[in-house]
Amino acid sequence: MKQPGQKVGVGLSRGAVMAAHDFLFLKISCAVTILVLGVYAWHNPAGGPKGDTWLGYTLGIGSALVVCWLAYFGIRKRRYAAGSVDLRTWLAAHIYLGVLVIIVATLHSGFRLGLNLHGLAWLLLVLTCISGVFGLQAYIRYPRLMVANRGGIAFDALLGQIADADREMQATAMPMGDDLSRSVHAAITGTTLSGTAWQRLSGRFAACPTAKMRQTVETMLRSPSVDEVPALRQLLAQVIRKEALLARVRRELQLLAWLQVWLFFHIPLSCALLAAITAHVTAVMFFL
Ligand code: HEM
Repeated sequence: MKQPGQKVGVGLSRGAVMAAHDFLFLKISCAVTILVLGVYAWHNPAGGPKGDTWLGYTLGIGSALVVCWLAYFGIRKRRYAAGSVDLRTWLAAHIYLGVLVIIVATLHSGFRLGLNLHGLAWLLLVLTCISGVFGLQAYIRYPRLMVANRGGIAFDALLGQIADADREMQATAMPMGDDLSRSVHAAITGTTLSGTAWQRLSGRFAACPTAKMRQTVETMLRSPSVDEVPALRQLLAQVIRKEALLARVRRELQLLAWLQVWLFFHIPLSCALLAAITAHVTAVMFFL
């Protein structure tokens, strides 16, 4: 059987992440939000709030620094040598400060958002955060769905059971005709667990050799002239069992794929955001 290019699991539980250090980062974010909203309400610059007042500059510089720090998480995640702060703590801070930065950056703009470079930077910030929320949702839901799907059986054990089912099918089909043996051989050697990216994400495996083999056995059993009925029935039970195991493995791989797919939005959006912020800062410093 073709083996999947399996990737590592997430290994972080929702409760542990969100509640890291007794919700320290949630508390910090709430405190900063209240402080910033209070100063914003109190501040009364001539011409109304905007980015180039002392408060506007403070909030703008603060937002840009936080965004750089949030983006640095991509580098920190890939440093396998343990730092003094663990990844769980980093992720908790990342999530809460990621939400905070939308508030701070919006106040920095004084709600003067238009169809220009500055508006684009803000939009990218919001889109990056929205993609982050989707990722967080995936991290919350999918590990639980994976555990339920496996029904307490380890992933490797499921693979072992599929290999057992293959061996049993081979033994049952051995004394039967060539056509059936070929179909069983195709089911054993040609069945893929993960398939193409689309198959993996959709969970649809049209023309799966195992499904085809089951159909062949079912057709043979329906034929009035069939002999070897007990052996065929045994083969049918074995292939149905294999299909059930395959469905579980593919579901696991599907969930893992969806767990990663949102990063294809989050990471490019983060890079585009950094570029837009650089352009925004350059524009206000040198051209306005
Ligand atoms: C300006 C805002 C943000 C920026 C620039 C940013 C950037 C990043 C980067 C660079 C990574 C690392 C991705 C990787 O290399 O695998 C990451 C991961 C992540 N981000 Fe964000 N992010 C932002 C906001 C948010 C928000 C608001 C949330 C959730 C509410 C969030 C949730 C996550 C999650 C769950 C991960 C995955 C952590 C993991 O794979 O262990 N992000 N982010």
